[in-house]
Formats: sequence, structure tokens, C-alpha cells
Amino acid sequence: MGEILLTRPFPRVNGHLLCGEFPLQDLAAEFGTPLYVYDLKWIRSRVALFRDAFSEVDPVIAYSVKANGNLSLLRELSDLGCGADITSGGELFRARSAGIEGMKIVFAGVGKSEDEIEFALDEGIYAFNVESHSELQRINRVAERKGVTARFGVRVNPGVIASTPHEYTATGHSDTKFGVPWEEAQELYRWALEQESLDPVGIDVHIGSQIAEIEPYIAALTRVLKVASDLSGEGVPLEYVDIGGGFGIDDGQVAALDIDALAREIVPRVMDSGLQLILEPGRALVADAGALLTKVEYVKTNAQKVFVIMDSGMSELIRPSHYGGYHEIEPAGPIAGRIDAVVDIVGPVCETGDFFAIGRSMPMPEEGELLAVRTVGAYGFTMASNYNGRRRPAEVLVDGTEVRLVRSRETYLDLTRGEL
Ligand code: LLP
Repeated sequence: MGEILLTRPFPRVNGHLLCGEFPLQDLAAEFGTPLYVYDLKWIRSRVALFRDAFSEVDPVIAYSVKANGNLSLLRELSDLGCGADITSGGELFRARSAGIEGMKIVFAGVGKSEDEIEFALDEGIYAFNVESHSELQRINRVAERKGVTARFGVRVNPGVIASTPHEYTATGHSDTKFGVPWEEAQELYRWALEQESLDPVGIDVHIGSQIAEIEPYIAALTRVLKVASDLSGEGVPLEYVDIGGGFGIDDGQVAALDIDALAREIVPRVMDSGLQLILEPGRALVADAGALLTKVEYVKTNAQKVFVIMDSGMSELIRPSHYGGYHEIEPAGPIAGRIDAVVDIVGPVCETGDFFAIGRSMPMPEEGELLAVRTVGAYGFTMASNYNGRRRPAEVLVDGTEVRLVRSRETYLDLTRGEL
């Protein structure tokens, strides 16, 4: 089984999909459905992959909390030495609650509020990745008021187009709200030098998500390293270069970004620069370690279509309807000898856009059967909602022979908590 685990999580053994030592059907029977299941061993191997590939420059792996912010998961990642890339006070709270040190936290995002900036300064984060001049002015004001110095890097918009599966997940080109145009970055650093409460320490870039090619990373890195070396020439030596996340995974349609090949290009350039490398992987650490277990409630046919109606939908996993995201879906139990059918896998939510797959060919699902939706460890639970009065699912973490409930299923009372 060890070997199967090396190539892919949730292997099919004797007809049954497993997570660690557990058949998914047993987990569903114990914890109910819909259920998010994460394979911790797989996550460890992904962290090791990044560490090994970039070992020569000993990067800070600032896990992107937005991908999956479950506290137990964050604690495991913290134990593996990861820091955090956060995008809100809420994610800072999660990261700190899970024991991630402030000095391993970077804070990106175009809309940082005063409260959030203050919270981040209180927690002594490593750096703000600043997305505009106005934001830098605000950070300066807050730091001044508190009598502290804020460390920051400019998030540069490198004007690089990285192809991503959906336009919503491309961030490196000038039509997006992200970052400071690379031609203007230098001005921000110059302005900051005149402020007592600002300490320019780094430079940052993030070009999108689910990127399968190496070239855009090289182009973006080249651009920011040029800015860094110009700054150093002006007597502003930086400490870190952060190349963001976005490292693509194999989702069954697109091949994964080759992390070793990426490192072979990035490492020598970073070594030359003498800067500390920060990586912000989200999806690449956790996506394929997660499956959503969901039960077929009904099979409904009309003249054109077979609808397989699940007990979860866009409220539990919004990627298919929001980004056209592709997820492999398969029966958790035996499939040998079964006949394939072309079906729409849909949810219970009252929206035509509530689907996991349209026109998918798979073994004809039966009512009551358990299906597993793959590669949902990232942007699955974190994007789940209570729309249509749905209770968000439970989450379990499997570590070989051990399984732990790491989030209880929401109750009806959870749905109305805080309402007056
Ligand atoms: N760093 C920054 C500044 C980011 O904005 C993001 C993701 C990451 C790192 C991590 O990217 P990753 O390694 O996970 O690709 N909800 C979308 C993905 C949105 C990504 C937003 N930013 C999806 O489900 O595909």
C-alpha cells in the first residue's frame, strides 16, 4: 500500500477507496455525510517535496491559510515548520491559535483594515505584503500611533500572464486589483525610507492559482529580483523575496506543476540574490489530500438527462460552479464490472448552477451509494456556505491508523447563532 500512497492518495484497494487504513465507506458510516476527509500522511509528503526541492535555500513555507484553515490541520503544518500566508485578521487568528509563530507570517490582501493592521503588529508578523501606496500610508500611521516599526515588502504586479484554468484565478497581470505595478514599486520603497515607522524588508509577487507552467514564475521572479537589485544599489538592501503560491496540482485534467523542475530554475536565481525565499503554497500542499464524501440521495431522469442528486452541492464545494473547477468523482465502493453512464452530478441547492459535474461518464451511481469527490482539500471547506440553510459538513483528519474528528458537523442551532 505504501507504494500506492506515493503516487496518489485515496487508493482503491480490493475494490474500496481508502484513506490511510480506513475504507471511505467506514468513515462515512462513522461520521456521516457530507464529510471532508484529509490524509495527513499525504500532506506531510507534500511539505517534504517542497522542502527537498528547495533545500539549498531553506525557504520559509508560508502555507496559504485560505486554502484550508482548519485549526488541527494548521497545527500539523506548524509542527512541520510551516509559517502562514494570511489575508485577514480571521486567518491571523487561526494561524496564531494553531501555534504558528508571528515571525513566520506574511500578510497579503488588497483591503487590509486598520484593525487588521493593528492586530498584525500586535502579533509581530514577519511582514506585510503591501498592495498599494494608500495601504502603506495606513500601515505607517498605525505603526506610528503604536510606537512600533512595521516590516513590509511591496507586492509587485509583474505584468505576467500565467495561464490558469479560470480567469478569476489569474492575478499577475495589470487588469487585476492585485499588487503595485512593477514600474511604481520603487517609489513606494523610497517614500517608506523617509518614514520612521516603516522598515522595507522584502519584495513579493503572486501570479495566480493552479498554474502548470514554470515560465511565468521565472518571468515574475526575474522582474522582482531586478527591482530588489536596483533598490540594493540605492542603499536599500532587502531581506526576503516571496514568490507567492499558485503551484498547480494534477486534478485529473491538467498535469501538475513539476516542483523539482521549478526549484531548479528558482533556486540558483534566489541564491545569487542572497535573499531569503518565501513560498506560499496553498493548494499544492492540501488539495489532493482531501476528498468530499457524499451520498446519492436520488437518481432522477428525464428525456435528455440522468441527474444524480447528492447530499452536498455548491454550498459544500463551490469550485465546479464558480470556476468550472474539475474534480474527479468516483464510487467509494467497488466498481468492477459496472456499466458507465453519462450523468450530471448535482446538489440539493435551488440553483441550476448547483453541480459538481455535467455530462460526466462514470459507473452508474445508485441511490444510497457513497461517492468520493477528489482534490477538494483546498478551497473546499473554506469556501463552503450556509446558503439554503445548509449546515457545513464535518471534517476528519486521518493519519495512517488514526482518525480524528477535527470539525463537528454544524447543527441547526449553529445556523441561527448570533441572530437577534
Ligand atoms: N498567496 C497569495 C497572495 C494568494 O492570493 C494565494 C491564493 C496563494 C498564495 C495560494 O495560492 P495556491 O497555492 O493555493 O494556488 N478559490 C480559488 C483559488 C483562489 C486563490 C487565491 N489566492 C480556487 O478554488 O481555485
